[in-house]
Amino acid sequence: MKKITHICCIGAGYVGGPTMSVIASQCPNIKVTVVDINQQRIDSWNDDNLDNLPIFEPGLKEIVGKARNMNLFFSTEVDKAIDEAQIIFISVNTPTKTYGKGKGQAADLKFVELCARNIAKVAKDDKIVVEKSTLPVRTASAIKSILQHTGNKVNFEILSNPEFLAEGTAIEDLLNADRVLIGGDDTPSGQEAKDTLSSIYEHWLPKERILQTNVWSSELSKLVANAFLAQRVSSINTISALCEKTDANIQEISRAIGYDSRIGSKFLNASVGFGGSCFQKDILNLVYIARSYGLTEVADYWEQVIIANDYQKSRFAEHIISSLYNTISGKKIVLYGWAFKKDTNDTRESPAIAVADALLDENAEIIVYDPKVTADRIYADLDYLGTRSSEENRKLLTVCNDPMDATKEAHAIAILTEWDEFKNYDWKSIHEQMLKPAFVFDGRRLLDKEKMDSLGFNYYKIGQS
Ligand code: NAD
Ligand code: UGA
Repeated sequence: MKKITHICCIGAGYVGGPTMSVIASQCPNIKVTVVDINQQRIDSWNDDNLDNLPIFEPGLKEIVGKARNMNLFFSTEVDKAIDEAQIIFISVNTPTKTYGKGKGQAADLKFVELCARNIAKVAKDDKIVVEKSTLPVRTASAIKSILQHTGNKVNFEILSNPEFLAEGTAIEDLLNADRVLIGGDDTPSGQEAKDTLSSIYEHWLPKERILQTNVWSSELSKLVANAFLAQRVSSINTISALCEKTDANIQEISRAIGYDSRIGSKFLNASVGFGGSCFQKDILNLVYIARSYGLTEVADYWEQVIIANDYQKSRFAEHIISSLYNTISGKKIVLYGWAFKKDTNDTRESPAIAVADALLDENAEIIVYDPKVTADRIYADLDYLGTRSSEENRKLLTVCNDPMDATKEAHAIAILTEWDEFKNYDWKSIHEQMLKPAFVFDGRRLLDKEKMDSLGFNYYKIGQS
């Protein structure tokens, strides 16, 4: 088996950064270089102040602090890193296509293809190329075809090694992965490549958790895992709507069904909807693939998971509007949380964006407080929707750094991210300084209903009448 001394990862994002930091910390004899074309991002990864890393993840800065410039490097010198590495991870973004065939559904593979072409151009010796990005089935074959036509007699082994970390718990997920999936060819050189990659993970994970499959199973497993997880959230969210009509309590239902060991207790928290960069994108991709093979029923089935999620977000916004006497024009509504979940500064597809957009459509005055998301990010998210001009977005929505100040003379508060700190606020004082009746719409089921009722709030908890 090949001795690995140098690893390169193309893409220093939410996956590339944490994944490579953990590999570097667990494999001190391997030099790991993470490269990106985004100079600003690389500069942030190299910032002396570890609080300025481009990604907030619990435990990340400690790991980066120890390994950086020892055997972990962040750089924009892509070609150099490719040249010296025996294993190259491709960890670039694969967003939903916004143009052409498959627009709005298929994965946009242009960044991945650019990486493959770059590797083909630079490589002078044999390489193992690892798809870390989430890709549609059969992408490995496309990458292989690009790489094999370089003409410089280099042998490339292409492996699929999808990432299953969740943001907010990325370091824990990486250090203690339920499983690592490695897909590759069944040829002798394919098997050797799989074993070589496996040996990296074996530095800290038991071998039985490292699963080897064929390359297509690995690619499809990643999409299916996300589809199943998102499906659970949509399933419980649809039932939350029914609970609100029937006096049943969604938490009691989650508990009752979660005790069934066949169902399990995780991922049954009703919410304002799932967000994040991947659930929607990966399901849309699955839907597109199924449809392109003529499997209409399969495509329709999975598409419903997204339809239910959109319903949950708009249902929440409509509930705010109807509770505030069907008019929120000029009313001050505070949004607690903008990130798509707690413990991350990532806002991609966050339900907060859709809720804010619906409230701004009604001319509400919105104040946002999030402990980790910057004002620039919040405005960029809204501007990206193109619903109104950026001037209007800035006129109607302000970002506040003080959660208490934000609520002065507010009509309502909507909790959109489950940040732990929201639980510990002085809700009595908040109530005192709000206009009455003071409304709280809890889209994360974070607070205690009895307590909020007793403080005098008009308190709505998703999934409870
Ligand atoms: P990201 O947008 O945070 O990072 C991608 C990075 O790749 C960016 O910094 C971008 O500048 C860089 N890049 C793009 N093209 C490049 C090129 N040609 N050369 C060098 N750098 C280039 O994305 P992410 O969240 O890290 O996701 C990456 C992949 O991992 C996606 O396919 C995603 O579906 C998958 N994934 C993400 C998560 C997650 O939690 N975010 C989890 C599992 C899998
Ligand atoms: C998810 C998967 O959990 C990871 O395994 C996967 O690697 C990743 O997508 C990916 O491919 O990008 P992530 O999106 O980071 O991870 O976070 P999750 O914890 O899965 O949460 C996704 C969304 O669902 C969040 O908005 C969260 O608030 C919501 N959610 C989750 C609920 O509303 N209820 C739940 O019970 C669980």
